[in-house]
Amino acid sequence: MPGPMGLGKLSISMRFALVFLVALGLVGSAFYLILDRIYVNQLKSQAETVADNVDAFGTWVAQYGRVWVKEDARSFLGHMPLLQPEEGATAITAATVKPVNFYSKNPALAQREFSEVVARSGTPAQFRLTSHNVMNQSNAPDPFETAALARIREAGLKEYFELTPEGFRYARTLYHKASCITCHGDPEKAPNDVKVRYGTIHGFGFKEGDVAGVISVRLPAKPFWSVAVSIVGGGALAMIVGAFLIAMLFVRFAIVSPVKRLTKASHQISLAQPADLGVANIGRTSRNELHQLALAIDRLRRSVHIAMRKLGDDKPGVPATTATREP
Ligand code: HEC
Repeated sequence: MPGPMGLGKLSISMRFALVFLVALGLVGSAFYLILDRIYVNQLKSQAETVADNVDAFGTWVAQYGRVWVKEDARSFLGHMPLLQPEEGATAITAATVKPVNFYSKNPALAQREFSEVVARSGTPAQFRLTSHNVMNQSNAPDPFETAALARIREAGLKEYFELTPEGFRYARTLYHKASCITCHGDPEKAPNDVKVRYGTIHGFGFKEGDVAGVISVRLPAKPFWSVAVSIVGGGALAMIVGAFLIAMLFVRFAIVSPVKRLTKASHQISLAQPADLGVANIGRTSRNELHQLALAIDRLRRSVHIAMRKLGDDKPGVPATTATREP
C-alpha cells in the first residue's frame, strides 16, 4: 500500500522506527504538559500562601483601624505625644515624665513596611501592594503588575499569574470596602494626616467594591523547560534508548526475519527448488500470524505439487517440466 509521501515503500524496521519516534514525541509532549501544569500549580499555591499571610496581616492591623508605634519618624501617619515616666524614676511627678511620640500605621502602610522587612530578610518570596491609582508613588506597578491590573479590571478576575523569565508572578485582587473609602474616596473627606503626607491627588476617587489594587507576589522560579532539562538525566535517557532498542530488536527478530525467510522460501518454491519454510516446529494452533502464513504457504506448495502431478498424469504425452515440479 502506497502510504502518504511514499512512506509505505520504506522497510518495516524504518517505518516502525518512525512510528516509535512520533509516538515517543507525543507521549513526551503529554508528559511535559502535565508536569508543566503541576509545576505552575505548585508555584501558584506557594504564592497564594504568601498572599494569604499578607492579607491576614492587613486584617490584623485593620482590626484596630491603625496600629500605633513608638518613636518611629521614618514613615508615620499622624502622631500622638504621650507622657511617660523617665527611666529609673520611682515616682511619677511632673519632673520625672517626658513626652514620647507614637506614630500610627494604617493597614497599607503596615503591609508595605512588612514587605520591606521581608525583602531584607533574604526570603526568596517577595510581595508588595500596588494599584493602578497609587497613593504612594513608590508603590507604582511594574510592567507585569500594570498588565495584571489591566487584565483584572477588564475581565473582573480575582487573581492573575504568569511564569515569567524573572520568576513566578502572582497578583491577587483587592477590593475596596466601606472602611477603605474613608481614606481612598473623596480626598476632601480623607483624614488630615493622609492628606498632609500623601497629598490629595493620587490614590483617591474609589468607591466601595472597586478594584483597589493587588497583592503582588514574586517567587524565584526557573522556566519549566530548564527544570525539565535538569530533571531528565542520563538514566532516563538510557531507558528511552533501551526501550527503542528492545522494540527494534522485537521488530527485527519477530517480524522482519521470519518475513524474509518466508519470502526466500516462496521464491525457491516458485523455482521448484527445495525450500525450508520451517513448518516442522510450528504447531497448527500457534496464534502467531507468521506461523499461520508459513503453514498456509506450505499447504499452497503441496497443492501446487499435486496439481502439477495431475497435469503430468492427464497428459502423459507432455512431460511436466522439472521447473514446475518439486523434486
Ligand atoms: C487610614 C487611611 C487608609 C485606610 C482606611 C486604607 N488605606 Fe489604603 N492606603 C493608605 C495609605 C496612606 C497608603 C499608602 C501607604 C504607603 O505609603 O505605602 C495606602 C495604600 C494602599 C494600597 C497600595 C497602593 C498605593 O495606593 O500606594 C492599596 C492597594 C490600598 N491602600 C488598599 C486599601 C484597602 C483595600 C483598604 C481597605 C481594606 C485601605 N487601603 C484602607 C491609607 C488608607
